[in-house]
Amino acid sequence: MNGWRWGFLLLVYASLILKTGAVEHGRTQPTERISGSAGDVLEDDPVGRLKVFVYELPSKYNKKILQKDPRCLNHMFAAEIYMHRFLLSSPVRTLNPEEADWFYTPVYTTCDLTPNGLPLPFKSPRMMRSAIQLISSNWPYWNRTEGADHFFVVPHDFGACFHYQEEKAIERGILPLLQRATLVQTFGQRNHVCLNEGSITIPPYAPPQKMQTHLIPEKTPRSIFVYFRGLFYDVGNDPEGGYYARGARAAVWENFKDNPLFDISTEHPTTYYEDMQRAVFCLCPLGWAPWSPRLVEAVIFGCIPVIIADDIVLPFADAIPWEEIGVFLDEKDVPNLDTILTSIPLDVILRKQRLLANPSMKQAMLFPQPAQPGDAFHQVLNGLARKLPHEKSIYLKPGEKILNWTAGPVGDLKPW
Ligand SMILES: *[C@@H]1O[C@H](CO)[C@@H](O)[C@H](O)[C@H]1NC(C)=O
Ligand SMILES: *[C@@H]1O[C@H](CO)[C@@H](O)[C@H](O)[C@H]1NC(C)=O
Repeated sequence: MNGWRWGFLLLVYASLILKTGAVEHGRTQPTERISGSAGDVLEDDPVGRLKVFVYELPSKYNKKILQKDPRCLNHMFAAEIYMHRFLLSSPVRTLNPEEADWFYTPVYTTCDLTPNGLPLPFKSPRMMRSAIQLISSNWPYWNRTEGADHFFVVPHDFGACFHYQEEKAIERGILPLLQRATLVQTFGQRNHVCLNEGSITIPPYAPPQKMQTHLIPEKTPRSIFVYFRGLFYDVGNDPEGGYYARGARAAVWENFKDNPLFDISTEHPTTYYEDMQRAVFCLCPLGWAPWSPRLVEAVIFGCIPVIIADDIVLPFADAIPWEEIGVFLDEKDVPNLDTILTSIPLDVILRKQRLLANPSMKQAMLFPQPAQPGDAFHQVLNGLARKLPHEKSIYLKPGEKILNWTAGPVGDLKPW
């Protein structure tokens, strides 16, 4: 038996003794949770509560792009493709735009990959602009509200800011033409120019089938205390160190690389998914942007997510009781991570594990094919339904214009 296992037994023992009066560390996460019974995912059925009109665009905006690079179906931003497919056959779809509550424009702006599979957003603004130009000249609905009853899936790093470097993303801001639209995006950080109020934060896409094939028996003991695989430093993009993940990942490494309770490394083993099912806590520190596929993986594999990303907006935070499932840690408290985690009472750990075992929690994190009730597609629709009815003020008066079609970098104005 290795050292940390003794450590964990001691922890269990200590937890039992100290049960009364023990305080759960970590901060309380402010959420905008609406309802739902204790610890459960908010149950809602979007069918009958909204109608979505899907614009028919030339295939160069979607299918052709995917044909050129089918890898787009598997990358972490693939939700833009699956959401389109889902909507086409969804019961909330209407073919009559006059009765639609929401308008959806199927444009795959994230499907331009480097040889290594990283999405390049440089063409995205022009492509998006071109699509909006098309819908606004062929249908009357865009001009009616200048996009306020339209939603767009923009899963890129900093959403509709369309740049993977944060400084550049902030400098660009949200594409001017999308200022009034509802953005469905993975990026979620409070008080950030790349997150509009009213946006819907979604989980990054994780391949459901692939994860399924790595499930191990549920009763397998969780013999790893803290688990993490990923970068601590990004030497390529941040040679000075310290800026990457605002230094949070570097702090994890420096403080705990030799701590036997921590199974952390940059090496991604073939047993990665199995290891998560053997771990009590899985670290979800921010990376370049504050979302992480690790959060989805932790939920799927029942490993309590330890969220280290100040001001993060977690996926579907109005429907999922993240504060009850996970552990939230301020970035500045990383050096105390060991004390904080070992002080969590055993009954609190067991309760979080029980909540994580709830299939509806896992369902909400996935975009399965075919769709299933309560999955991430349905959570997006629920989010859109909860924004209804639209306020009267979104409808512009005749001749009224709010958006500036020539604002933004001149490069974005070139035809796509
Ligand atoms: C919408 O407004 C734009 C510019 O203001 C105009 O060019 C376009 O023809 C309008 N669309 C429709 C369908 O009237
Ligand atoms: C639109 O934006 C351009 C470029 O920033 C600016 O020159 C122009 O004055 C703006 N137009 C209006 C009506 O605000």
